[in-house]
Amino acid sequence: MKIAHISDIHIDTPARPGSIWEFDRLIKRILEHNYDHLVITGDVVDVANTDDLRKVREVLKQNGILNWEQTTIIPGNHDIFGKYDTKGNKALSVIATAMQQRVALAAAQKLHAFCDIFRETITEDAELAGYFPFVKVLGGGKAGIAMVSFNSVLEWSLRLNPTGARGYVHASERQAIEQPEVLEVLQGKFVVALCHHAYKIYEPQTPVDRAFVWAMELLEKDAYLATLKKMNTKIALHGHFHRAEEYDVQGVHFINSGSVRRSTAIINSIEIFPDDTYTNAFIQL
Ligand SMILES: [Fe+2]
Repeated sequence: MKIAHISDIHIDTPARPGSIWEFDRLIKRILEHNYDHLVITGDVVDVANTDDLRKVREVLKQNGILNWEQTTIIPGNHDIFGKYDTKGNKALSVIATAMQQRVALAAAQKLHAFCDIFRETITEDAELAGYFPFVKVLGGGKAGIAMVSFNSVLEWSLRLNPTGARGYVHASERQAIEQPEVLEVLQGKFVVALCHHAYKIYEPQTPVDRAFVWAMELLEKDAYLATLKKMNTKIALHGHFHRAEEYDVQGVHFINSGSVRRSTAIINSIEIFPDDTYTNAFIQL
C-alpha cells in the first residue's frame, strides 16, 4: 500500500490562477507513480473559498480518485476561516477579520460545506451531517490499514483563538474513538491518524516566536497524544506548520508533509508492507 501525503496547498485561483493547474499536475504525477491512496491534511484552499474547493473536487473527480478507497481529505483552518491579514495593524485586522468571518461565514456551515464537497471521500451516507472522527479500513499491511481522521479546526474566539489558526481535537472526538467497540476495530490493524494541526511546532526563543507558536498551536495536544497511543497509532500525519519533517513522541511517529503547492514539490511518500513494516521519505515525483 503506497500512500501519498500532501498538505497546505493553499489554492487561491483569484490570486494565483495557476494554483489549481499545479494541483492537477501533482495529482497526475502521483497517479503515474502508482500510489494507492492520497491523503490531504487540510489547508486545501487559502481563503475559505468554496468555489476553489469545488475546483479541487473536480480535479479529484476527473482524475478518478474522488472516492473512499483512494482519497482522504480533512479540513484545515484556511478551509474554514481563510487567512488573517499579517500586514498593517496586525492585532486589529486579525480581530476584525476573524469577527467578520465568525459572523458572516459561520464556521459550522463552512465545515459542513467542506465535507459536503468531498462527501464521497468521507461518507457514503448522503444524510450524515456529523463527520468527525471517521475511520476507514483499507487493504494493506498484515490485517488492514485503519485511517482515523480528526477535525482539529478550533472554533474562533476572541480569547482562545483570535487568529482562527489554533487547533484542538475536541474531547468528544477523542472519546468517540476511545469507545471499546472502536478500539476493537482498530486492534491489530496498521493505524494511521490524521489531523491538520501540528503536534510540534518549535521551541520558541523570543517573545515574537512565542506569539507565533501560541497563535498556531494545537491545544491540549497531550490529550490528543494519549488518544493516539490508545489507538496504537503507528503514524500520525499532519500539516499546518509549513515544514516537511518527522519526529517521534512516545512511540508515535509524526510526519508533517509541509506545504505542497507545486507539482514539483516534495511530498511525503509512505509504503506499508504486508508484514506491517513501512518506509517513508520526502520525495519529488
Ligand atoms: Fe493551517
